[in-house]
Amino acid sequence: MKMINETAIITGSTSGIGKKIAEIFLKEGCKVAICSRNKDNVDRTLSEFQEKFGESVIGDVCDVSKSAELKTFVKKTIDIFGSIRILVANAGLSLSYGPFHYLSLEKVNNEAKKIMETNLIGTINSISSVLPYMKAQKYGRIITLSGGGAERPLENMTIYSASKGGILAFTRCLSKELENENEDIKINIFNPGMTKTNLLDSSKVIKEWKSEINFSKELELIIKYVASDINKSCKKVIPYVLPTCNKNGKSFRGFSIINMIKGFRKIKKQGKN
Ligand SMILES: NC(=O)c1ccc[n+]([C@@H]2O[C@H](COP(=O)([O-])OP(=O)(O)OC[C@H]3O[C@@H](n4cnc5c(N)ncnc54)[C@H](OP(=O)(O)O)[C@@H]3O)[C@@H](O)[C@H]2O)c1
Repeated sequence: MKMINETAIITGSTSGIGKKIAEIFLKEGCKVAICSRNKDNVDRTLSEFQEKFGESVIGDVCDVSKSAELKTFVKKTIDIFGSIRILVANAGLSLSYGPFHYLSLEKVNNEAKKIMETNLIGTINSISSVLPYMKAQKYGRIITLSGGGAERPLENMTIYSASKGGILAFTRCLSKELENENEDIKINIFNPGMTKTNLLDSSKVIKEWKSEINFSKELELIIKYVASDINKSCKKVIPYVLPTCNKNGKSFRGFSIINMIKGFRKIKKQGKN
């Protein structure tokens, strides 16, 4: 067990990647605080984890776009665990999938607000809420979540990609501010790769662009040939949250680029046959 004596907050940890990272940390002996917006999701995940990991896990409803909820959640975690040594700012969502010009101004305005509030502002809020504690203890490990389009241009997810590009810039800039001989606080960026989760399953294709049937066929192939193995991918986070991590402001992947290219080639080949 590599994470005995560690304490972590993982946001958006009632499903998908956040939940998997929470499970991996708990198995390594870390104490973990989980959260999401929906009380049923929190209660269900908490009782599932408590059965296996007992008092090492706590949880509460917390919407990362709301500073008051984060303040209460972080305070509760400190009161129970005594410290927060790790933050994984994972909570995120995606809405429409398809070319930007198909969206009306009203829809763009609505989706951009929702996505930015959770993905970008939620990440910034989460970091702001734990940083004073990390500064006081002169130690911390923070992970932010990258995503499609953040590092390289990608079609059909422009608003989501913009939110992830913002997270990337924020993380890199903050890493410079955190370079300090007297403190050991590091922030790095995890790109899990395409992963079969609720986020992917609930992506809504723009119907004026492509039929839902064609989209779900394409998605099925992508999941079959390109998607990351969630367990293998999320385990890549561990070295970045241990005291031995000396990286700061770096992006790391949970998947192999070569396998991803090979996967897309197979899909192209199938399309030709
Ligand atoms: N899946 C992929 O292919 C992929 C690829 C690259 C990066 N990512 C990133 O990985 C992260 C996790 O995504 P996922 O695929 O695991 O999605 P997911 O299965 O939909 O899980 C998202 C989690 O975040 C919670 N959540 C959503 N909005 C929230 C908010 N405002 N405050 C607090 N919790 C919130 C959800 O629960 P509630 O609904 O109860 O709030 C849920 O627990 C995201 O940042 C995503 O952008 C995903």
